[in-house]
Amino acid sequence: MKCVSALVVIAVGQRTTQAASGSEGWASVREELRRSIREGYPAAVGREEARGYAWQMLHEFRSMFVLNYKKRLYASAGHASMAKHKVHYFFSMLLSMRALPNFMATWDVGARGTECAKTVGTRAPCLVIAKVDGYQQSGVLVPNPYFAHIDEWDARARTWGATPFERRDPRVFWRGAVNPHCSSGNAARLAALEIASRHPKLFDVKWTAFDPPRCNEIDVVADLKSAQGAFVAVSNFSRYAALLNLPGTMGGSYSRNLNYLWPQGAAILLWNSKAVEWYYPALRNGETHLGVDRGSLAAAAATLVRDATILQNLRARATRVFGSFLCGKCLERYWSDLVEALRAHFRFDLVLDDDAQLKNLLVGLDCDDLRSIDLGNWSSFYDDTHATPHTGHPCVYSRLDDTDPLYALCRAAQLDDVTSSEISSIVR
Ligand SMILES: *[C@@H]1O[C@H](CO)[C@@H](O)[C@H](O)[C@H]1NC(C)=O
Ligand SMILES: *[C@@H]1O[C@H](CO)[C@@H](O)[C@H](O)[C@H]1NC(C)=O
Repeated sequence: MKCVSALVVIAVGQRTTQAASGSEGWASVREELRRSIREGYPAAVGREEARGYAWQMLHEFRSMFVLNYKKRLYASAGHASMAKHKVHYFFSMLLSMRALPNFMATWDVGARGTECAKTVGTRAPCLVIAKVDGYQQSGVLVPNPYFAHIDEWDARARTWGATPFERRDPRVFWRGAVNPHCSSGNAARLAALEIASRHPKLFDVKWTAFDPPRCNEIDVVADLKSAQGAFVAVSNFSRYAALLNLPGTMGGSYSRNLNYLWPQGAAILLWNSKAVEWYYPALRNGETHLGVDRGSLAAAAATLVRDATILQNLRARATRVFGSFLCGKCLERYWSDLVEALRAHFRFDLVLDDDAQLKNLLVGLDCDDLRSIDLGNWSSFYDDTHATPHTGHPCVYSRLDDTDPLYALCRAAQLDDVTSSEISSIVR
Protein backbone atom coordinates (compact mmCIF):
# COMPACT_ATOMS: atom_id res chain seq x y z
CA MET A 1 0.00 0.00 0.00
CA LYS A 2 2.75 2.34 1.01
CA CYS A 3 4.59 1.55 -2.22
CA VAL A 4 1.57 2.33 -4.36
CA SER A 5 0.94 5.72 -2.79
CA ALA A 6 4.61 6.61 -3.12
CA LEU A 7 4.46 5.77 -6.81
CA VAL A 8 1.41 7.93 -7.28
CA VAL A 9 3.14 10.86 -5.67
CA ILE A 10 6.14 10.47 -7.96
CA ALA A 11 3.96 10.22 -11.05
CA VAL A 12 2.01 13.35 -10.14
CA GLY A 13 5.23 15.19 -9.37
CA GLN A 14 6.63 14.30 -12.78
CA ARG A 15 3.54 15.47 -14.60
CA THR A 16 3.63 18.82 -12.86
CA THR A 17 7.27 19.48 -13.57
CA GLN A 18 6.91 18.38 -17.17
CA ALA A 19 4.15 20.94 -17.68
CA ALA A 20 6.32 23.66 -16.15
CA SER A 21 9.26 23.21 -18.50
CA GLY A 22 7.28 21.95 -21.50
CA SER A 23 4.07 23.60 -22.66
CA GLU A 24 3.86 26.14 -19.86
CA GLY A 25 7.47 27.15 -20.43
CA TRP A 26 6.82 27.60 -24.14
CA ALA A 27 3.81 29.78 -23.38
CA SER A 28 6.06 32.10 -21.33
CA VAL A 29 8.71 32.16 -24.04
CA ARG A 30 6.18 32.95 -26.77
CA GLU A 31 4.50 35.61 -24.65
CA GLU A 32 7.81 37.41 -24.09
CA LEU A 33 8.61 37.15 -27.79
CA ARG A 34 5.28 38.71 -28.72
CA ARG A 35 5.50 41.33 -25.98
CA SER A 36 8.94 42.47 -27.14
CA ILE A 37 7.61 42.93 -30.68
CA ARG A 38 4.28 44.49 -29.68
CA GLU A 39 5.78 46.96 -27.22
CA GLY A 40 8.97 47.55 -29.17
CA TYR A 41 7.60 48.58 -32.57
CA PRO A 42 4.39 50.20 -33.84
CA ALA A 43 2.40 47.59 -35.76
CA ALA A 44 2.19 47.94 -39.54
CA VAL A 45 -1.53 48.27 -40.13
CA GLY A 46 -1.25 48.29 -43.90
CA ARG A 47 1.02 48.41 -46.92
CA GLU A 48 2.39 51.91 -46.27
CA GLU A 49 3.76 51.03 -42.84
CA ALA A 50 5.03 47.68 -44.09
CA ARG A 51 6.84 49.50 -46.93
CA GLY A 52 8.30 51.98 -44.46
CA TYR A 53 9.87 49.26 -42.32
CA ALA A 54 11.25 47.32 -45.29
CA TRP A 55 12.59 50.50 -46.93
CA GLN A 56 14.45 51.53 -43.77
CA MET A 57 16.15 48.17 -43.59
CA LEU A 58 17.19 48.06 -47.25
CA HIS A 59 18.37 51.65 -47.50
CA GLU A 60 19.20 52.93 -44.02
CA PHE A 61 20.48 49.83 -42.23
CA ARG A 62 22.39 48.37 -45.11
CA SER A 63 25.12 46.79 -43.02
CA MET A 64 22.68 45.18 -40.59
CA PHE A 65 19.81 43.72 -42.57
CA VAL A 66 19.07 40.06 -43.13
CA LEU A 67 16.57 39.20 -45.85
CA ASN A 68 14.99 35.83 -46.40
CA TYR A 69 13.37 35.89 -49.82
CA LYS A 70 12.13 32.89 -51.79
CA LYS A 71 13.97 30.46 -49.50
CA ARG A 72 17.30 32.22 -49.89
CA LEU A 73 19.22 34.42 -47.45
CA TYR A 74 20.66 37.79 -48.41
CA ALA A 75 22.71 40.49 -46.76
CA SER A 76 24.73 43.41 -48.05
CA ALA A 77 28.46 43.16 -48.81
CA GLY A 78 29.08 45.50 -45.94
CA HIS A 79 27.33 43.28 -43.44
CA ALA A 80 29.22 44.04 -40.28
CA SER A 81 31.97 41.59 -39.43
CA MET A 82 31.27 39.31 -42.34
CA ALA A 83 34.64 37.73 -41.76
CA LYS A 84 33.72 36.71 -38.23
CA HIS A 85 32.66 33.30 -37.01
CA LYS A 86 29.60 34.68 -35.27
CA VAL A 87 28.11 36.05 -38.49
CA HIS A 88 28.79 32.82 -40.35
CA TYR A 89 27.32 30.69 -37.58
CA PHE A 90 24.23 32.87 -37.42
CA PHE A 91 23.53 32.39 -41.10
CA SER A 92 24.48 28.72 -41.12
CA MET A 93 22.04 28.04 -38.29
CA LEU A 94 19.24 29.68 -40.26
CA LEU A 95 20.21 27.82 -43.41
CA SER A 96 20.23 24.49 -41.57
CA MET A 97 16.52 24.86 -40.84
CA ARG A 98 13.51 24.04 -42.88
CA ALA A 99 12.92 26.95 -45.29
CA LEU A 100 11.38 29.92 -43.51
CA PRO A 101 8.85 32.22 -45.20
CA ASN A 102 9.93 35.64 -46.49
CA PHE A 103 11.00 38.03 -43.74
CA MET A 104 13.45 40.85 -43.01
CA ALA A 105 15.12 42.09 -39.87
CA THR A 106 18.21 43.88 -38.73
CA TRP A 107 20.64 41.91 -36.57
CA ASP A 108 22.84 43.20 -33.77
CA VAL A 109 26.04 41.15 -34.00
CA GLY A 110 27.11 42.21 -30.50
CA ALA A 111 27.02 40.10 -27.35
CA ARG A 112 25.09 42.63 -25.24
CA GLY A 113 22.29 43.55 -27.63
CA THR A 114 22.76 47.26 -27.05
CA GLU A 115 23.15 48.21 -30.72
CA CYS A 116 19.40 47.73 -31.28
CA ALA A 117 18.47 50.69 -29.10
CA LYS A 118 21.44 52.78 -30.18
CA THR A 119 21.22 52.39 -33.97
CA VAL A 120 17.84 51.00 -34.97
CA GLY A 121 15.43 52.04 -32.24
CA THR A 122 11.80 51.56 -33.27
CA ARG A 123 12.48 52.02 -36.98
CA ALA A 124 12.89 48.33 -37.81
CA PRO A 125 12.78 44.95 -36.08
CA CYS A 126 16.17 44.27 -34.52
CA LEU A 127 17.32 40.79 -33.49
CA VAL A 128 19.62 40.26 -30.52
CA ILE A 129 21.19 37.15 -28.99
CA ALA A 130 21.06 38.53 -25.45
CA LYS A 131 19.84 41.56 -23.57
CA VAL A 132 22.43 42.55 -21.01
CA ASP A 133 20.00 44.73 -19.04
CA GLY A 134 17.00 42.40 -19.11
CA TYR A 135 13.80 41.96 -21.11
CA GLN A 136 12.91 45.66 -21.27
CA GLN A 137 15.94 46.39 -23.42
CA SER A 138 15.10 47.11 -27.08
CA GLY A 139 15.17 44.22 -29.57
CA VAL A 140 13.79 40.76 -30.24
CA LEU A 141 15.64 37.78 -28.77
CA VAL A 142 16.98 35.01 -31.02
CA PRO A 143 19.18 32.01 -30.16
CA ASN A 144 22.89 32.75 -30.08
CA PRO A 145 24.62 31.48 -33.22
CA TYR A 146 26.91 28.89 -31.60
CA PHE A 147 24.64 25.96 -32.42
CA ALA A 148 25.71 26.64 -36.00
CA HIS A 149 23.85 23.73 -37.59
CA ILE A 150 20.81 22.39 -35.81
CA ASP A 151 21.11 18.74 -36.88
CA GLU A 152 24.82 18.55 -36.14
CA TRP A 153 24.29 20.29 -32.80
CA ASP A 154 21.51 17.88 -31.91
CA ALA A 155 23.49 14.80 -32.85
CA ARG A 156 26.44 15.93 -30.73
CA ALA A 157 24.47 17.18 -27.75
CA ARG A 158 22.60 13.88 -27.53
CA THR A 159 25.86 11.97 -27.03
CA TRP A 160 26.80 14.09 -24.02
CA GLY A 161 25.63 13.44 -20.48
CA ALA A 162 26.60 9.78 -20.76
CA THR A 163 28.44 9.37 -17.45
CA PRO A 164 26.24 7.41 -14.99
CA PHE A 165 25.44 9.31 -11.85
CA GLU A 166 27.38 6.95 -9.54
CA ARG A 167 30.57 7.64 -11.44
CA ARG A 168 30.27 11.42 -11.39
CA ASP A 169 32.46 13.76 -9.39
CA PRO A 170 30.04 15.38 -6.87
CA ARG A 171 31.75 18.77 -7.05
CA VAL A 172 30.56 21.81 -9.00
CA PHE A 173 32.56 22.21 -12.20
CA TRP A 174 33.62 25.19 -14.31
CA ARG A 175 36.43 25.94 -16.74
CA GLY A 176 37.01 29.16 -18.62
CA ALA A 177 39.07 32.24 -19.16
CA VAL A 178 39.42 35.46 -17.23
CA ASN A 179 40.27 38.30 -19.58
CA PRO A 180 41.04 42.01 -19.08
CA HIS A 181 37.57 43.35 -20.00
CA CYS A 182 36.11 45.34 -17.13
CA SER A 183 32.82 43.46 -17.49
CA SER A 184 30.52 41.90 -14.93
CA GLY A 185 31.40 38.56 -16.51
CA ASN A 186 35.02 38.82 -15.42
CA ALA A 187 33.99 40.12 -12.00
CA ALA A 188 31.77 37.03 -11.56
CA ARG A 189 34.58 34.75 -12.72
CA LEU A 190 37.01 36.17 -10.19
CA ALA A 191 34.44 35.91 -7.40
CA ALA A 192 33.61 32.29 -8.24
CA LEU A 193 37.28 31.33 -8.50
CA GLU A 194 37.98 32.92 -5.15
CA ILE A 195 35.08 31.15 -3.40
CA ALA A 196 36.02 27.84 -5.03
CA SER A 197 39.63 28.14 -3.90
CA ARG A 198 38.40 28.22 -0.30
CA HIS A 199 36.21 25.10 -0.73
CA PRO A 200 38.16 22.54 -2.76
CA LYS A 201 35.87 19.71 -1.58
CA LEU A 202 32.86 21.42 -3.15
CA PHE A 203 34.33 22.88 -6.35
CA ASP A 204 36.44 22.06 -9.34
CA VAL A 205 36.21 25.62 -10.63
CA LYS A 206 39.45 26.63 -12.39
CA TRP A 207 40.69 28.98 -15.08
CA THR A 208 42.34 27.86 -18.33
CA ALA A 209 43.60 31.35 -19.20
CA PHE A 210 44.16 34.18 -16.74
CA ASP A 211 44.70 37.83 -17.59
CA PRO A 212 42.58 39.62 -14.99
CA PRO A 213 41.13 43.11 -15.51
CA ARG A 214 42.72 46.06 -13.77
CA CYS A 215 39.86 48.43 -13.09
CA ASN A 216 38.21 50.16 -10.17
CA GLU A 217 34.96 48.20 -10.42
CA ILE A 218 36.69 44.85 -9.93
CA ASP A 219 39.00 44.02 -7.08
CA VAL A 220 40.93 40.80 -7.04
CA VAL A 221 41.38 39.89 -3.40
CA ALA A 222 42.80 36.40 -3.50
CA ASP A 223 45.86 35.19 -5.28
CA LEU A 224 44.26 33.11 -7.98
CA LYS A 225 47.37 32.26 -9.95
CA SER A 226 47.31 28.72 -8.60
CA ALA A 227 43.65 28.19 -9.54
CA GLN A 228 44.64 26.90 -12.97
CA GLY A 229 42.90 23.81 -14.28
CA ALA A 230 43.47 21.52 -17.23
CA PHE A 231 41.26 21.99 -20.27
CA VAL A 232 38.19 19.72 -20.22
CA ALA A 233 36.31 18.98 -23.45
CA VAL A 234 32.56 19.54 -23.51
CA SER A 235 32.09 15.82 -24.13
CA ASN A 236 33.67 15.26 -20.70
CA PHE A 237 31.56 17.73 -18.71
CA SER A 238 29.27 14.86 -17.67
CA ARG A 239 31.99 13.59 -15.34
CA TYR A 240 30.51 16.10 -12.86
CA ALA A 241 27.18 16.13 -11.01
CA ALA A 242 26.80 19.91 -11.14
CA LEU A 243 27.94 22.59 -13.59
CA LEU A 244 28.34 26.30 -13.04
CA ASN A 245 27.64 28.95 -15.67
CA LEU A 246 29.13 32.42 -15.42
CA PRO A 247 28.27 35.47 -17.55
CA GLY A 248 30.36 35.96 -20.69
CA THR A 249 33.79 37.58 -20.49
CA MET A 250 33.24 40.12 -23.22
CA GLY A 251 29.97 41.79 -22.37
CA GLY A 252 28.98 40.18 -19.09
CA SER A 253 25.85 38.86 -20.75
CA TYR A 254 25.16 35.53 -22.47
CA SER A 255 27.75 32.81 -22.26
CA ARG A 256 28.34 30.42 -25.12
CA ASN A 257 29.22 27.83 -22.50
CA LEU A 258 25.65 27.58 -21.22
CA ASN A 259 24.49 25.99 -24.50
CA TYR A 260 26.65 22.97 -23.61
CA LEU A 261 25.54 22.57 -20.00
CA TRP A 262 21.82 21.70 -20.28
CA PRO A 263 22.35 18.37 -22.10
CA GLN A 264 24.93 17.04 -19.61
CA GLY A 265 22.50 15.40 -17.18
CA ALA A 266 23.91 17.64 -14.44
CA ALA A 267 22.44 20.19 -12.03
CA ILE A 268 22.95 23.72 -13.39
CA LEU A 269 24.01 26.70 -11.30
CA LEU A 270 23.45 30.06 -13.01
CA TRP A 271 25.23 33.13 -11.74
CA ASN A 272 22.59 35.81 -11.11
CA SER A 273 22.71 38.55 -13.71
CA LYS A 274 20.27 40.86 -15.45
CA ALA A 275 21.22 39.42 -18.86
CA VAL A 276 18.62 37.24 -20.56
CA GLU A 277 18.42 34.92 -23.56
CA TRP A 278 15.36 33.85 -25.52
CA TYR A 279 14.40 30.78 -23.44
CA TYR A 280 14.94 32.37 -20.01
CA PRO A 281 11.20 33.00 -19.49
CA ALA A 282 10.91 29.21 -19.11
CA LEU A 283 13.53 29.01 -16.37
CA ARG A 284 12.58 28.82 -12.69
CA ASN A 285 15.12 29.38 -9.96
CA GLY A 286 15.17 26.36 -7.64
CA GLU A 287 13.50 24.14 -10.24
CA THR A 288 15.32 24.28 -13.56
CA HIS A 289 18.55 25.57 -11.98
CA LEU A 290 19.93 27.26 -8.88
CA GLY A 291 20.54 31.00 -9.16
CA VAL A 292 23.78 31.82 -7.32
CA ASP A 293 25.98 34.78 -6.54
CA ARG A 294 28.94 35.69 -4.35
CA GLY A 295 26.86 35.26 -1.20
CA SER A 296 25.16 31.97 -2.03
CA LEU A 297 27.50 29.94 -4.24
CA ALA A 298 29.24 27.98 -1.45
CA ALA A 299 25.96 27.16 0.33
CA ALA A 300 24.36 26.01 -2.96
CA ALA A 301 27.27 23.68 -3.69
CA ALA A 302 27.08 22.28 -0.15
CA THR A 303 23.34 21.64 -0.56
CA LEU A 304 23.90 19.66 -3.74
CA VAL A 305 26.50 17.45 -2.09
CA ARG A 306 24.27 16.91 0.94
CA ASP A 307 20.76 16.59 -0.54
CA ALA A 308 20.34 13.90 -3.19
CA THR A 309 16.67 14.75 -3.83
CA ILE A 310 17.38 18.36 -4.70
CA LEU A 311 20.31 17.34 -6.87
CA GLN A 312 18.31 14.68 -8.76
CA ASN A 313 15.37 17.02 -9.35
CA LEU A 314 17.66 19.69 -10.73
CA ARG A 315 19.40 17.16 -12.98
CA ALA A 316 16.08 15.97 -14.37
CA ARG A 317 14.81 19.48 -14.94
CA ALA A 318 17.99 20.63 -16.68
CA THR A 319 17.69 17.70 -19.07
CA ARG A 320 14.13 18.80 -19.81
CA VAL A 321 15.28 22.35 -20.51
CA PHE A 322 17.52 20.88 -23.18
CA GLY A 323 14.78 18.60 -24.53
CA SER A 324 12.20 21.39 -24.65
CA PHE A 325 14.20 24.44 -25.68
CA LEU A 326 17.75 23.74 -26.81
CA CYS A 327 17.40 20.67 -28.98
CA GLY A 328 17.80 21.25 -32.74
CA LYS A 329 14.08 21.00 -33.42
CA CYS A 330 13.41 23.30 -30.44
CA LEU A 331 15.63 26.02 -31.91
CA GLU A 332 13.84 25.61 -35.20
CA ARG A 333 10.45 25.84 -33.50
CA TYR A 334 11.42 29.14 -31.89
CA TRP A 335 12.68 30.56 -35.17
CA SER A 336 9.49 29.65 -36.98
CA ASP A 337 7.40 31.22 -34.17
CA LEU A 338 9.57 34.30 -34.42
CA VAL A 339 9.29 34.66 -38.20
CA GLU A 340 5.53 34.17 -38.01
CA ALA A 341 5.29 36.87 -35.31
CA LEU A 342 7.47 39.28 -37.33
CA ARG A 343 5.45 38.71 -40.50
CA ALA A 344 2.19 39.36 -38.68
CA HIS A 345 3.36 42.51 -36.90
CA PHE A 346 5.33 44.12 -39.75
CA ARG A 347 3.05 42.78 -42.52
CA PHE A 348 5.94 41.45 -44.58
CA ASP A 349 3.40 39.46 -46.58
CA LEU A 350 2.33 42.75 -48.21
CA VAL A 351 5.79 43.75 -49.40
CA LEU A 352 7.97 40.66 -49.60
CA ASP A 353 5.48 38.13 -50.96
CA ASP A 354 4.50 40.55 -53.72
CA ASP A 355 7.23 41.09 -56.35
CA ALA A 356 5.77 44.34 -57.69
CA GLN A 357 5.93 45.84 -54.19
CA LEU A 358 9.39 44.55 -53.47
CA LYS A 359 10.67 45.85 -56.82
CA ASN A 360 9.41 49.26 -55.89
CA LEU A 361 11.40 49.15 -52.65
CA LEU A 362 14.58 48.21 -54.49
CA VAL A 363 14.65 51.41 -56.55
CA GLY A 364 17.86 53.28 -55.79
CA LEU A 365 19.61 50.27 -54.26
CA ASP A 366 23.08 49.25 -55.43
CA CYS A 367 22.22 45.73 -56.64
CA ASP A 368 25.89 44.75 -56.82
CA ASP A 369 26.20 45.34 -53.09
CA LEU A 370 23.80 42.46 -52.36
CA ARG A 371 25.17 39.04 -51.41
CA SER A 372 23.44 35.70 -51.23
CA ILE A 373 24.45 33.38 -48.42
CA ASP A 374 24.59 29.62 -48.78
CA LEU A 375 25.86 26.80 -46.62
CA GLY A 376 29.36 25.78 -47.64
CA ASN A 377 31.37 22.88 -46.35
CA TRP A 378 30.42 22.93 -42.71
CA SER A 379 31.74 19.50 -41.77
CA SER A 380 35.03 21.02 -40.62
CA PHE A 381 33.73 23.72 -38.36
CA TYR A 382 32.65 21.54 -35.45
CA ASP A 383 35.82 20.69 -33.68
CA ASP A 384 36.02 17.32 -31.95
CA THR A 385 38.21 18.51 -29.12
CA HIS A 386 35.87 21.30 -28.15
CA ALA A 387 32.79 19.58 -29.55
CA THR A 388 31.64 23.02 -30.61
CA PRO A 389 31.77 25.16 -33.69
CA HIS A 390 35.23 26.48 -33.29
CA THR A 391 36.93 27.40 -36.50
CA GLY A 392 36.03 27.87 -40.10
CA HIS A 393 33.43 29.83 -41.95
CA PRO A 394 30.64 27.52 -43.02
CA CYS A 395 28.89 30.08 -45.22
CA VAL A 396 29.63 31.19 -48.73
CA TYR A 397 28.81 34.78 -49.69
CA SER A 398 28.24 35.24 -53.40
CA ARG A 399 27.81 38.19 -55.69
CA LEU A 400 24.54 37.94 -57.54
CA ASP A 401 23.83 37.63 -61.24
CA ASP A 402 20.72 37.66 -63.41
CA THR A 403 19.89 34.06 -62.51
CA ASP A 404 19.16 35.21 -58.97
CA PRO A 405 15.52 36.27 -58.42
CA LEU A 406 16.34 39.19 -56.11
CA TYR A 407 19.08 40.51 -58.37
CA ALA A 408 16.84 40.29 -61.43
CA LEU A 409 14.15 42.22 -59.57
CA CYS A 410 16.66 44.77 -58.32
CA ARG A 411 18.08 45.38 -61.81
CA ALA A 412 14.60 45.68 -63.27
CA ALA A 413 13.75 48.23 -60.56
CA GLN A 414 16.70 50.47 -61.58
CA LEU A 415 15.80 50.22 -65.28
CA ASP A 416 12.15 51.06 -64.58
CA ASP A 417 13.31 54.00 -62.55
CA VAL A 418 15.51 55.32 -65.38
CA THR A 419 12.66 54.86 -67.83
CA SER A 420 10.14 56.64 -65.64
CA SER A 421 12.49 59.59 -64.96
CA GLU A 422 13.25 59.82 -68.68
CA ILE A 423 9.55 59.86 -69.40
CA SER A 424 8.93 62.55 -66.81
CA SER A 425 11.77 64.69 -68.22
CA ILE A 426 10.32 64.32 -71.74
CA VAL A 427 6.89 65.27 -70.40
CA ARG A 428 8.42 68.28 -68.67
C1 LIG B 1 37.85 12.88 -21.70
O1 LIG B 1 38.48 12.41 -20.53
C2 LIG B 1 39.18 11.18 -20.68
C3 LIG B 1 39.66 10.73 -19.31
O2 LIG B 1 40.41 11.73 -18.68
C4 LIG B 1 40.32 11.40 -21.65
O3 LIG B 1 41.02 10.20 -21.87
C5 LIG B 1 39.73 11.89 -22.98
O4 LIG B 1 40.78 12.20 -23.86
C6 LIG B 1 38.88 13.13 -22.77
N1 LIG B 1 38.22 13.47 -24.01
C7 LIG B 1 38.49 14.59 -24.70
C8 LIG B 1 37.74 14.77 -25.98
O5 LIG B 1 39.27 15.42 -24.32
C1 LIG C 1 34.85 19.47 -46.12
O1 LIG C 1 35.67 19.53 -44.97
C2 LIG C 1 36.13 18.29 -44.51
C3 LIG C 1 36.83 18.50 -43.19
O2 LIG C 1 37.79 19.51 -43.27
C4 LIG C 1 37.02 17.68 -45.56
O3 LIG C 1 37.46 16.41 -45.13
C5 LIG C 1 36.24 17.51 -46.86
O4 LIG C 1 37.08 17.06 -47.87
C6 LIG C 1 35.63 18.85 -47.28
N1 LIG C 1 34.73 18.64 -48.41
C7 LIG C 1 34.75 19.41 -49.48
C8 LIG C 1 33.75 19.06 -50.54
O5 LIG C 1 35.53 20.33 -49.62
